[in-house]
Amino acid sequence: MENWPEQWRTLDHGIRSGRYTDPEFTRLEHKNLWSRVWQMAARLDEVPEPGDYTVYDIGHQSVIVVRVDRDTVKAFYNACPHRGTALAENAGSFENCRIICPFHGWRWGVDGAVQYVLERQQFRGGKLADSDVALREIRLEIFAGFIFINFDRNPKPFDEFIAPVRQLIEDLAIGDMHPIWWKSVTAPANWKVAVEAFLEGYHVPATHPQLETTSAEFIYGDDVTREVNFSHADHLYETFPNGHGRFLGGQKTPMAGHTTAAGDPVEMMAARLNLLVEGMDAMILKEDVELVRSLKGKPIPEGSTLGGEYVKALYGTAAQQQRPMPKLEREVLDQWGGEVFIFPNLMVLPQAGNAMMYRVRPNGSDPDSCIFEIYSTKTYPAKQPVPRAVVQKMTDASDPEQFLQIPRQDFSNIPRIQKGLHTNGCKQVWLADYYEKMILNMHQEMDRYLMD
Ligand code: FES
Ligand SMILES: [Fe+2]
Repeated sequence: MENWPEQWRTLDHGIRSGRYTDPEFTRLEHKNLWSRVWQMAARLDEVPEPGDYTVYDIGHQSVIVVRVDRDTVKAFYNACPHRGTALAENAGSFENCRIICPFHGWRWGVDGAVQYVLERQQFRGGKLADSDVALREIRLEIFAGFIFINFDRNPKPFDEFIAPVRQLIEDLAIGDMHPIWWKSVTAPANWKVAVEAFLEGYHVPATHPQLETTSAEFIYGDDVTREVNFSHADHLYETFPNGHGRFLGGQKTPMAGHTTAAGDPVEMMAARLNLLVEGMDAMILKEDVELVRSLKGKPIPEGSTLGGEYVKALYGTAAQQQRPMPKLEREVLDQWGGEVFIFPNLMVLPQAGNAMMYRVRPNGSDPDSCIFEIYSTKTYPAKQPVPRAVVQKMTDASDPEQFLQIPRQDFSNIPRIQKGLHTNGCKQVWLADYYEKMILNMHQEMDRYLMD
């Protein structure tokens, strides 16, 4: 594009910083990206019963997602057709499946059809049609427990949008994952800064030293001569069409039974996995660590590994509990501990019968603020009731009472990145050709929307 500002360019090896800081760029994102892209508005678990609703806000758009009946969920603009009042806030249930405007009491069914207009003959010369004042519906698709919406009246078909990651997400049983906890917090940074903090494992040694002690000792220590095997070097990155991507931990993960230092392998693996329990309370659950410990003293059959035995134990227990699990295939197992990125802002980090997810979106029209959410989910035993998903609104991303160590470490960088990006000393960021290629792919796809 000829008059595309220099400070907004996506380069071959980097990104110009104006994309993160310029309010005009944020405006363009709302106009051309968020208005047309498929985006996750909710999980189905937020609206389990008819009448249940949740409000999804993005920029200045506000959407009511509501369950109509067992098989139907709809999305409407959160605006009264009379004088504009927002009809719902946060989440809840419409009593008797009726949506009543708090201003003058007009009323609709949860299907969006108008039911009552006070002094109806007063409007449009007495000729007000139901269609004049029906709630305005927004396109919606359900996939893997996610409710995706699109504001565009004629969007790219959802099937086409999701195609590159559909199989991955389905094999991982993401549609069977239900809430353990869900937290949101606003972060003082551009939404892309927060997304990109989770699109690579290259930051792990410096940001999460407890997860990679040898590499961290190298980075923070003064012995620069010895060789270090950084675990990110074993990660596999893949980019897909439509801006999506994924990475995998590769073979050298504790999940694959890999341990580094000498010691009892069961204890080492349990200790390593426990770092995630204590640091995140997601991805690895307490019961998973106990399962690893239960392998202690049991011989490993020939041809198997500790990781292999762990997987057997996990699937055995899940079968007893009638818990759905990811497909038991090498390729699916390899995805554990990695991530599937659904463009532009949804990250799924699958693990053994559970998954952590991140969603990041701009906070209003401010380029320097975003809403960040973490979902910890798992599959539930067949007869166990699934709780409704309710967000806990956190106020401080650095508070140990509100977030555990690993997210706090990630969050601690985010405002600092935004601060540096604003200085005149940072005209562009550099991206590693391989380890950061999902970031570049995301920006390239964004440009297809923005320049169109
Ligand atoms: S603004 Fe909603 S009924 Fe008047
Ligand atoms: Fe991190």
